[in-house]
Amino acid sequence: MAEATKHATLTVNGTSYDLPVMSPSAGPDVIDIRKLYAQAQMFTYDPGFTSTASCDSHITFIDGDKGELQHRGYPIDQLAGKSHFLEVCYLLLYGELPGATALEEFETIVTRHTMIHEQMMYFFRGFRRDAHPMAVMTGVVGAMSAFYHDSTDITDEHQREVASFRLIAKMPTIAAMAYKFTVGQPFVYPRNDLDYASNFLRMCFAVPAEDYVVNPILSRAMDRIFTLHADHEQNASTSTVRLASSSGANPFACIAAGIACLWGPAHGGANQACLEMLREIGSVDRIPEFIARAKDKNDPFRLMGFGHRVYKNTDPRATVLKQSADEVLELLGVEDNPLLQIAKELERVALSDPYFIEKKLFPNVDFYSGIILEAMGFPTSMFTPIFAVSRTVGWISQWKEMITDPQMKIGRPRQLYLGETARDYVDIENR
Ligand code: CMC
Repeated sequence: MAEATKHATLTVNGTSYDLPVMSPSAGPDVIDIRKLYAQAQMFTYDPGFTSTASCDSHITFIDGDKGELQHRGYPIDQLAGKSHFLEVCYLLLYGELPGATALEEFETIVTRHTMIHEQMMYFFRGFRRDAHPMAVMTGVVGAMSAFYHDSTDITDEHQREVASFRLIAKMPTIAAMAYKFTVGQPFVYPRNDLDYASNFLRMCFAVPAEDYVVNPILSRAMDRIFTLHADHEQNASTSTVRLASSSGANPFACIAAGIACLWGPAHGGANQACLEMLREIGSVDRIPEFIARAKDKNDPFRLMGFGHRVYKNTDPRATVLKQSADEVLELLGVEDNPLLQIAKELERVALSDPYFIEKKLFPNVDFYSGIILEAMGFPTSMFTPIFAVSRTVGWISQWKEMITDPQMKIGRPRQLYLGETARDYVDIENR
């Protein structure tokens, strides 16, 4: 916990209150208002948490004005370029890059936890075939607490560790099974001789009728998508995981809550919404119509895949993914795909439009990830499950950090009440 280095004074109706100000290792100072209610009988008001730090953390740092993202101090472009997903998982979980032996051990442990309890197959079969894979994932991951009783005691460090491995390892298996179920193909079991990304691609695209050879460029692109989405500080789904676990709930239940939150179109669901929007636009000559709608205050339509709560310059994940998109599209020979043409033209038009420039709205990670995943052959409904696979390690790392924080309290926001004041009950015949 940071020590107060400065002080702020809040004056209300002539009475002043001294508030400690804490300086972070990077980023803006933070006014500590924890004792404000006790001192002044006042709350602060910040729906949407636009000016509120909900916790302290050592994991991820974002400078939204400069467009920077760092995990444990390492810039995301270096991690995306030189590292790989499981190494980044280790970094997020343990705070340092692993040595060769530690990495090998970690990779072996994750690989050996990828199978799911065979009984869970029947759980999948209870869903309708047209269920959204995010609905299936929310249910199945929540149900893990009914299958893995020996890793639900959050007070036991070993059980927390095992739960972490299980979640990171089994999430691709669950996502791939959710996909296979919706297309009516047999489930494909994980294979221990494949790396994390290749294994996922194979579980999604292999069929028993023929051999599936993983293309290394696609596997690299998949790994990069996982790496770029691994953690993102206190975003909505991570805050959901933290809030859910602040009550002492088990990790599988908390991660299921995170998955449910991620599904929304303002968050992880934006990659699916973005591709659906490109389809709705349909042709390059309709772009001006949609740009006009996005700017119209009376139209709820927004350009999906544009804008970010924190990034007001550029989304550094989008910069890396844009390069990956070019590589993958070239490899697959689909540069002239009509949807991709619309995406490129939309990006060009929006980036030169004064509305988007003034409001600092840039393409975000979901704009490019959707394009890559579409080219790789994933249906749009799988885009957000893939985001969930990647973000699981971020949720777990933040959860572990919170559980071991001696200051941890149940999260319990207050409110600005604007409803009726106390009044007497009226019997039904008198209403
Ligand atoms: N298209 C058109 N106008 C927009 C857009 C957009 N995509 N995003 C923001 N604006 C406008 C908004 O209308 C507002 O205008 P005004 O100041 O005149 O009222 C201004 O820009 C600020 O927007 P805001 O809603 O106050 O900003 P926010 O920080 O609350 O919302 C956001 C951030 C990501 C929810 C929003 O930009 C958005 O809805 N984008 C589309 C959905 C999307 O792509 N989400 C993925 C985010 S990145 C992946 C992730 O973290 O999950």
